[in-house]
Amino acid sequence: MFLITGATGNVGGELATILAGQGHAVRAYVRNPARASHLPEEVELAVGDLDDAEALRAACEGVDTVFFMQAAPSPAQAETLVDAATAAGVTHVVVLSSIGTVLHPMPVIGAAINARDEVLRSSSLEVTYLRPNTLTTNALWWRE
Ligand SMILES: NC(=O)c1ccc[n+]([C@@H]2O[C@H](COP(=O)([O-])OP(=O)(O)OC[C@H]3O[C@@H](n4cnc5c(N)ncnc54)[C@H](OP(=O)(O)O)[C@@H]3O)[C@@H](O)[C@H]2O)c1
Repeated sequence: MFLITGATGNVGGELATILAGQGHAVRAYVRNPARASHLPEEVELAVGDLDDAEALRAACEGVDTVFFMQAAPSPAQAETLVDAATAAGVTHVVVLSSIGTVLHPMPVIGAAINARDEVLRSSSLEVTYLRPNTLTTNALWWRE
């Protein structure tokens, strides 16, 4: 079972749809189920906020791998995720990080994301760091 955070967003929504289309069991962690109506019906919904330790712990139950993304990097939310995933026996976290975390000098946003990633590095979980550069969806901001 995959747990996908940010499943009402650009990256998480695509990921949940692709994984479900490949026949994987997918649970989407969403704040508002009404915003998840575009997801395939096979995708199970778990309702909660990344600040809600109890809801996140319940959502991690029976999950092997968590896709973890945040709209803005928060070490506190990462700690909540690590605690929930560890307690539930999750083995693997794939985090949406950024190329900014490995640039020298590190840009301000890269440093903030790196501080969040440090929480995951300090955990006992197996973590895969995705480090994209500029997302194509940035172009949507320029539509006007
Ligand atoms: N833009 C770039 O060029 C670039 C480059 C490298 C990395 N990145 C990374 O890419 C990510 C952005 O991805 P994206 O475009 O998929 O984001 P997005 O479309 O803005 O989606 C954000 C998601 O986060 C959810 N969310 C926000 N706050 C939450 C909370 N407190 N608890 C639970 N869920 C919450 C939102 O849910 P709701 O629907 O409820 O609001 C939504 O599903 C960022 O982490 C950024 O660091 C971006």
